[in-house]
Amino acid sequence: MSEIAKLELEGTIYEFPIIEGTENEKAIDISKLRDTTGYVTLDTGYKNTGATKSAITFLDGEKGILHYRGYSIEQLAENATFIEVAYLLIYGSLPTQLQLDTFTNNITKHTLVHEDMKQFFEAYPAKAHPMGVLASMTCSLSTFYPESLDPNRSPEAKDLTMLRLLAKLPTLAAWSYKNAMRHPFMYPKNKYDYCSNFLHMMFAMPTEEYKVNPVVVKALNKLLILHADHEQNCSTSTVRIVGSSQANLYACISAGISALWGPLHGGANQAVIEMLEQIHNDGGDVDKWVLKAKDKEDSFRLMGFGHRVYKNFDPRATIIKKACDDVLEQLGINDPMLEIAKKLEKVALEDEYFKSRNLYPNVDFYSGIIYRALGIPTEMFTVMFAIGRLPGWIAQWKEMTENNEPIGRPRQIYTGATPREYVDIAKR
Ligand code: CMC
Repeated sequence: MSEIAKLELEGTIYEFPIIEGTENEKAIDISKLRDTTGYVTLDTGYKNTGATKSAITFLDGEKGILHYRGYSIEQLAENATFIEVAYLLIYGSLPTQLQLDTFTNNITKHTLVHEDMKQFFEAYPAKAHPMGVLASMTCSLSTFYPESLDPNRSPEAKDLTMLRLLAKLPTLAAWSYKNAMRHPFMYPKNKYDYCSNFLHMMFAMPTEEYKVNPVVVKALNKLLILHADHEQNCSTSTVRIVGSSQANLYACISAGISALWGPLHGGANQAVIEMLEQIHNDGGDVDKWVLKAKDKEDSFRLMGFGHRVYKNFDPRATIIKKACDDVLEQLGINDPMLEIAKKLEKVALEDEYFKSRNLYPNVDFYSGIIYRALGIPTEMFTVMFAIGRLPGWIAQWKEMTENNEPIGRPRQIYTGATPREYVDIAKR
């Protein structure tokens, strides 16, 4: 027998169905609430609101569990390639060798961007933040593929847009860096795998042979997998809500990139390194900065700490911390930021303020240290997150459009002025 939730309002009892997910998560289905009662719910920040049903990613914040399509993040990060995970997220199952080869080839042949786009890059100031460039360039892709504006295209045509995005985002990302450095753009090389190609476009120069370091490729592959999806977070919800208006996929992904940029979301990875550098330059007194983070009069927060959903530990942070030690050791790098990060983590984890609020290091706490070790400049960290998150955004958009979800349009409780008469400007 299915369960029912009862709500009493002004003496009347209303019944709402309880729905249950495959991992036994329960929700009260209030889709008929306003029609039957005239009431809406108020949930600023959507802390209690399920915006959709989704079969892509499961996470249990209390237990620190993260699964993509049923596979644990630990197993995927250890065994899979990023492209394999992208296929899994978008199409729902792990690819066979043939499916993987076809998918890889289809991505590889679209890695070039239109030559005219190079002129857009040249118009940006050298100091342009690469996230601003990436968001604009991603939206600009729609102008080269006007057929993508048709929401009723065939599934094959939609697939082509997804492949183009997966193929071109690393090119646009690497070129935004090259442009900032005023270095010549490096064209993609189709002989490389996804991660090697990105590294080649970032770090090669036309004057010299570039050797891709397999340690770096492996680390990058793992980082991208860890970022590939995270259910209904701020940027993914943005992609879904923009997509719900039937805006084209390039515009949706561009909106997701913009949402990711904020320091409370993907921008935290850049903010963490800037914070660690600040602490280091200030003499490395970790206790002083922990005190600042606890002081309600001080706007400083420990960046890379806390999460809306994870209230025990972030499984991605556990994997990244270990990868961080491995990468630094293998590359022979001694980074003082890692020492500060470890001290900070230890002090905070033993502190009552952080313990009582369930604040733990999140995925961004250690990822920046690996990116630094790989030679990625700080301003590019959030761009790396965007490359990793792209398959998740695409999968979520695909699921939403295939389910014909209605346009996203929350309600509000109006708290402004009640009706009043217009006053002539001379009398105000
Ligand atoms: N440092 C100090 N205090 C904190 C922190 C922090 N990093 N995070 C939360 N708190 C405190 C906050 O002041 C509040 O205290 P009180 O109950 O006394 O008012 C309490 O903990 C709850 O915080 P909240 O802001 O209500 O929690 P939230 O779920 O709305 O925010 C968060 C989650 C991630 C935005 C927040 O923890 C934060 O700002 N963290 C730092 C930024 C960061 O690392 N973001 C990356 C998130 S992981 C990558 C991603 O997926 O986006």
